[in-house]
Amino acid sequence: MNYENILSKAENGITTITINRPSKLNALNKSTINELHNAFKTADEDAATKVIIITGSGEKAFVAGADIGEFADFNVENGAKLAAEGQELLFDFVENLSTPVIAAINGFALGGGLELAMSAHFRLASTNARMGLPEVSLGVIPGYGGTQRLPQLVGKGRAMEMVMTAGMIDADKALKYGLVNDVVNLADLMPLAEKIGSKIMRNSSVAIGKAIKAINANFKDGVDGFGVEIEQFGECFGTEDFREGTTAFLEKRKAEFLGK
Ligand code: COA
Repeated sequence: MNYENILSKAENGITTITINRPSKLNALNKSTINELHNAFKTADEDAATKVIIITGSGEKAFVAGADIGEFADFNVENGAKLAAEGQELLFDFVENLSTPVIAAINGFALGGGLELAMSAHFRLASTNARMGLPEVSLGVIPGYGGTQRLPQLVGKGRAMEMVMTAGMIDADKALKYGLVNDVVNLADLMPLAEKIGSKIMRNSSVAIGKAIKAINANFKDGVDGFGVEIEQFGECFGTEDFREGTTAFLEKRKAEFLGK
């Protein structure tokens, strides 16, 4: 599929999706969100893709937020629709994929950009990365899940301060907050993401999909996470990967998972 605002490349089990609007610091307009939805869906449905990496093009920005020009004249109804549609198409969609998604934050991750990174299953950052939710400086609040996912990741007090000040934190502070798992030089960011991706790929993709579901259940209102874990754990016993993984261990050989 041809995209205008993103690039998608599948290689060696990893699909790398790159947001590619560098002249607008990769800001998320409607068509970019639609394209991202399609690219994530395609990668998730591709049996050869075991890991998805999301990053931004250029050396300055991961994503500098939702495209401000696109919503500046919205009314109350349009505003609510923008948030609801975006959450469904991209942010909740990414969080609930069974293929692991790693965000490689290569510069500014602001507003919708940080919200996208937070929807990924975990985050890595380059030393030049800057992260924040500056929405209140525009008279609005985060609408793509930021008020929910930021406190989950960094705690309520830090999230309150970040949202109220509309300030940016640097990569080291993000590491200290637990918002990102690792910080490396920009040149080392994609190699690190790929190295972690390769490590993930050695394991059962079916089991990983079930683990994502169980972990996510911990953060969903009204869902019994322990119950979801029991159900997903049980389902593993009906998979070929479980037979292969346990048999390979007992035969003292490396498991060859089929992802079934
Ligand atoms: N929406 C639309 N366009 C954006 C954008 C956004 N969120 N963020 C950056 N851009 C555009 C700028 O308008 C500019 O376009 P132009 O060259 O056509 O004027 C281009 O990207 C470059 O940005 P610029 O502001 O000139 O770069 P800078 O290095 O001076 O500043 C930032 C970088 C990230 C600090 C600044 O762009 C910024 O504050 N962006 C908005 C961040 C934000 O509030 N995001 C939350 C949105 S809800």
